[in-house]
Amino acid sequence: MTDVDLVVVNIAQLATPLGSTALTGADHGKLRVIEDAAIAVQGDEIVFVGPREALAASVLVGPETVHVDAGGGTALPGWVDAHTHLPFSGWREKEFDERLRGATYSDIAARGGGILSTVRRTREASLPELRRHVRERLDHLLELGTTTVEAKSGYGLSPRDEVKQLEALREAAQDHPADVVPTFLGAHTVPIEHRENREGYVRLLIDEMLPEVAANKMAEYADAFIDANAFSADEARRVLGRARELDLGVRVHADQLADDGAALVAAELGAASADHLEFASPEGIEAMARAGTCGVLLPAATFFLMMDARPPGRRLIDAGVPVVVATDFNPGSCPTDSMALSICFACLTAGLSVDEAIAGATLNAAHSLGRADRTGSLELGKRADIAIHAMPNRYHLVYRMGQTRVDTVIAGGKLIRPNA
Ligand code: NIG
Ligand code: FE
Repeated sequence: MTDVDLVVVNIAQLATPLGSTALTGADHGKLRVIEDAAIAVQGDEIVFVGPREALAASVLVGPETVHVDAGGGTALPGWVDAHTHLPFSGWREKEFDERLRGATYSDIAARGGGILSTVRRTREASLPELRRHVRERLDHLLELGTTTVEAKSGYGLSPRDEVKQLEALREAAQDHPADVVPTFLGAHTVPIEHRENREGYVRLLIDEMLPEVAANKMAEYADAFIDANAFSADEARRVLGRARELDLGVRVHADQLADDGAALVAAELGAASADHLEFASPEGIEAMARAGTCGVLLPAATFFLMMDARPPGRRLIDAGVPVVVATDFNPGSCPTDSMALSICFACLTAGLSVDEAIAGATLNAAHSLGRADRTGSLELGKRADIAIHAMPNRYHLVYRMGQTRVDTVIAGGKLIRPNA
């Protein structure tokens, strides 16, 4: 036996879901909790998780082993953020101010602002610029404890500019400790040059863009925004149906601002996830439960858009849908990349318990990204994706609203110390 590479000790509390599939229903908040715990890592893998006193008998801790002192903090799996729009250029703080003065998100989109204003800025950006933005954002996510992140295109909306976004993602993710899952969101909205000919854009997505993305393995998933200002349920069905034929997984921006029947479309397509869901119908939610489609809550976006509706967390869990908590990080509807804040809102506005929200932000999120066998929990054989929070137990994550501090992050076995 050789010395293990790294051990984490002085963990006041370790909390983790268990297994390699999503937790649902009554089990949704079932975590393994260990007081005074230790973790050992070999290469990029977890080789011990348990009470500190069992460490020495289980693995060889020797002169070569790196010791990480958790300082009496809480160890959780690294966050898995299953919904972001990472590769964009330009912020939209002026539109935000307009919304504070009474304009709605839909008003701004209808007059060519919103997503389309980020499209203009992203089209102007060069590939190296975009790559730099993505790299900086990945570094920041890691500091906040996010070790796996899904990232969507959708601000290019032309063959050239969508590929540029996915290329920037791929290049920025290379050699980065965070695991990046790329999603093609060419169906985010109809670009300005196709506004008089939306069918032309749908055909472009189906005949050119999706086949190119799939052939070059530029994305693992395809996504579509079903909304009055974006695509109809029928258009999305055609686009995402083509994605399925090309062996891409499917995700859907569903029923965010109205009941567009989108949860039903997601279930019908066997989508990995339907996201937002503030206005999802009871039939849509039941169909998702039957299809095993995850429901991704984006409660920070709901809050930031000042919506009266709430994310349907409780309804989804009670219906047996595996619930995921994600940020929706983007320059319009959710400029925060903080999973801690999103978890806080999931509990305070969507009816989740702290433990259900933690499962939603880790194992269930990994499941929705086809990675639950590799990450999302602190267990033997999983990737060493670990975050140490400077708090005595997991409840402080939500209870101390906004006061989170991540002391140490380990991503794929690599030690990152943001506050050292
Ligand atoms: O998930 N809903 C549509 N898309 C994004 C918003 C993108 C934007 O406003 O730039 C969302 O909220
Ligand atoms: Fe989104």
